Amino acid sequence: MTAQTADGSNSILVTGGAGFIGSNFVLRYVADGGRVTVLDLLTYAGNRENLAELEGNPRFRFVQGDICDANLVSALVREVRPQAIVHFAAESHVDRSIVDPGAFIHTNVQGTFTLLEQAKTYWSQLGDVERGNFRFLHVSTDEVYGSLKPEDPAFSELTPYAPNSPYAASKAGSDHLVRAYFHTYGLPTLTTNCSNNYGPFQFPEKLIPLVLLNALDGKPLPVYGDGKNVRDWLYVGDHCSAICRVLESGQPGETYNIGGNSERANLDVVETICSLLDEMKPDSSIGDRRKLIQFVPDRPGHDRRYAIDASRIKRELDWQPKVTFEEGLRRTVKWYLEHMQWVDHVRTGAYRDWIRQNYEERVAQ
Ligand code: NAD
Ligand code: DAU
Repeated sequence: MTAQTADGSNSILVTGGAGFIGSNFVLRYVADGGRVTVLDLLTYAGNRENLAELEGNPRFRFVQGDICDANLVSALVREVRPQAIVHFAAESHVDRSIVDPGAFIHTNVQGTFTLLEQAKTYWSQLGDVERGNFRFLHVSTDEVYGSLKPEDPAFSELTPYAPNSPYAASKAGSDHLVRAYFHTYGLPTLTTNCSNNYGPFQFPEKLIPLVLLNALDGKPLPVYGDGKNVRDWLYVGDHCSAICRVLESGQPGETYNIGGNSERANLDVVETICSLLDEMKPDSSIGDRRKLIQFVPDRPGHDRRYAIDASRIKRELDWQPKVTFEEGLRRTVKWYLEHMQWVDHVRTGAYRDWIRQNYEERVAQ
């Protein structure tokens, strides 16, 4: 798999490259021979340690800064002259968006608008060939489509938008802006709408790493509501390969749904993590980790089911996921067990404050 843009050049600007998916993508892109400048604010979710192995690599550069800072973005694109901007930077956690929606509107809507404006100015001043080859790839989510009933078909690229959380609404707003910049100005945009990711470097406020680390420590495993909400899980490496395919061969102005064909109820996911840990890291003082499961009050507005119809990207770009959920989860458990120092570093005071805020009020049911 190469990871080059249409003209064979490979210098790109990646926003949010110190977060979970962004860092997995950057590590892969540089390993494949690409040249990357990362722009990342290093919020609580951003971590330079994720990119530690690239320090000193001449094909990698890190810039700490805000995508909402138009002057910074303008100067950076002029200096880097990227063939593509791959835009991951966002506030990404639904529970936090319920507590503090303003931060989501600011970064996800205003930030994407700022990037689009600066990308448009830069792109419009390029020569013909470079202008034709430039791409703005916007990384978005399946949550913009709302919630499915058990019998509903999976989300396709034609499913109407119906976002339900402030996070999903802010991502939907950013998707609409990206669409408008293609239709109005011709900026060669690409949008990907992906399902739930898991894998190395995921911040432990999201279900899989949170449960994994709590179960390791013998702490309660909080399951919202009845535990029957369904997500379509995709191993992060497969998401990164899909983004590379879209960058290489996607049609400007188009959107691509990316999913794992792995619908699982949350309770099943939590039980599978317990079984894997009981096998890979047995602890007689804890015993059967499934006993740690606690049903807690539901997330307000909790979407019941997500599922992605990824037939378009398979048909048009020959991409499909390679890693099964069982294999990906085993790899993920192994990665966390082997990276406890990383875990210790991200469980800072700010992390502990969030855990207190989100779970203290949720008395076990
Ligand atoms: P994350 O929260 O782990 O990382 C977000 C990164 O963006 C962090 O490094 C953070 O420091 C950076 N950032 C935040 N605000 C910024 C700002 N104003 N300026 C510059 N950088 C800023 O997120 P993730 O899970 O890696 O998700 C990445 C993208 O993929 C997001 O756009 C998200 O909506 C989308 N997505 C995520 C998933 C998933 O399951 N995690 C699924 C589909 C789509
Ligand atoms: O679908 C893609 C989205 O997946 C991305 O756009 C988001 O950035 C990403 O965070 C993720 O959103 P979810 O809300 O689905 O992920 P989260 O890991 O927070 O929750 C997964 C499911 O598990 C969801 O149904 C809520 C439930 N849950 C979550 C937590 C943190 C629990 O039952 N208990 C918990 O403690």
